[in-house]
Amino acid sequence: MMMKTSTKEDRENASSGASSRRSPSGRLGVLIPGMGAVASTFIAGVEAIRQGWGLPAGSLTQLGKVEGKGNGDSWRVSKSLPLTGLEDLVFGGWDIFDESMLETARRSRVLDPYEIDRLAPFLDQIRPMAGAFDRNFVKNLAGKHIIESSSLSDRVEQLRSDIRRFAEQNQCDRLVMVWCGSTEVHTPESAIHQSIETFEQAIAANDPAIAPSQLYLYASILERVPYVNGAPNPGVEFPCFQQLALRMQVPVAGSDFKTGQTFLKTVLAPAFKTRQLGVRGWYSTNILGNRDGEVLDDPGSFRSKEVSKAGVLNGILSATEYPELYADLSHVVRINYYPPRGDNKEGWDNIDLFGWLNYPMQLKVNFLCRDSILAAPLVLDLVLLMDLAARNRRAGLQSWLSYFFKSPAVPSVETVEHDLGIQWRSLAEELEGFRALSHGVSLSAEVALDA
Ligand SMILES: NC(=O)c1ccc[n+]([C@@H]2O[C@H](COP(=O)([O-])OP(=O)(O)OC[C@H]3O[C@@H](n4cnc5c(N)ncnc54)[C@H](O)[C@@H]3O)[C@@H](O)[C@H]2O)c1
Repeated sequence: MMMKTSTKEDRENASSGASSRRSPSGRLGVLIPGMGAVASTFIAGVEAIRQGWGLPAGSLTQLGKVEGKGNGDSWRVSKSLPLTGLEDLVFGGWDIFDESMLETARRSRVLDPYEIDRLAPFLDQIRPMAGAFDRNFVKNLAGKHIIESSSLSDRVEQLRSDIRRFAEQNQCDRLVMVWCGSTEVHTPESAIHQSIETFEQAIAANDPAIAPSQLYLYASILERVPYVNGAPNPGVEFPCFQQLALRMQVPVAGSDFKTGQTFLKTVLAPAFKTRQLGVRGWYSTNILGNRDGEVLDDPGSFRSKEVSKAGVLNGILSATEYPELYADLSHVVRINYYPPRGDNKEGWDNIDLFGWLNYPMQLKVNFLCRDSILAAPLVLDLVLLMDLAARNRRAGLQSWLSYFFKSPAVPSVETVEHDLGIQWRSLAEELEGFRALSHGVSLSAEVALDA
């Protein structure tokens, strides 16, 4: 059986009818390259919620409300948007270690063992397919469960056939792919990424500059599967993938889930700005002991994270806009691999700020968080919202989802926004639009009806 969304005709049928915008029918497959701590916590959490004992805290699509336009009333996202129900989600993916989600959840030690036991029969059934891997891009992992061919075209073909087989075996009507894989060595955009043709030539020539994450992204777009990048690896914003996503009519979004320290940074920095308080320095450090921390211990992978984490302040505390307040801002980010802490990351921020007549002050933030507990609800929200976007014929970079990312990827004609409040307003506005579409009325008509 062919997967329904893999053909253009079916995709057009699925997304053109008003009914598909209202109530999605059938199963939504969630395909995850990189089935580690975040992926297993996300999958286990969805099952716990389905079984009626898990609280989806942190999830906009399950608990959130949006302020209504005009009349001030708020509306619940889960009730008012035609999102896929959790009962219709099925999970699969790839990893370079052949471990079931039960084994991964136990090894990752994010959830309590007795909770994992309650989910054991479900988690045990989910095993990753062999991943497309190249150790030059993740130096600290020696993956064994990998696609054997050294040809990049073969690896892409294998991933594409995995996608189709998964959809067929699980009777999926639609799919979304979310990269939850390790952070790869920083590989900036280069000449091979300038067009679809140059990228395809590079694939044919087995160019060593192509990171595995780019093979998943390429395969996903070719299969018309919406793609989300949860790690800092660049890719979704490269011209070749932007062009391909538009040509294939596929939505893509990224990059790097905005969960702990950076989430708070994009709340605090706008607050200082609106109060016209100066900032001289912002020193952020972390200790982290999970596999992600081990991978980030390699300077190449850390560089990707550093670029992603360090970028957020420049846009908010702009030296061009406010030279008196932010001209010499020193922003330093550190991540230290410290095994005893596991997934329970601790982050410290020291902020050197100044006020009236230049008098210095300090603010210290100490966030004892849980990495995967913060990331899992974002995975769920992004899956459901990307599926909604695809059903509404959205294609290319979805900048309205910037709220979820440390390094929002936006089309070249737009500017990147890091301020969480502004990101939230843009997301809420877009959700209002989807709500109006699903009700089959224009926004202004809806305000009149609600009044
Ligand atoms: N947890 C958070 O708060 C958070 C926030 C932002 C971003 N992230 C990013 O999310 C990603 C996942 O985090 P995690 O804690 O689950 O890490 P993890 O190490 O537990 O899981 C990543 C998995 O990816 C696998 N992998 C690596 N390369 C692969 C490939 N080419 N194909 C298939 N699988 C591959 C690894 O074997 C591993 O199991 C990381 O890149 C991390 O930086 C996490």
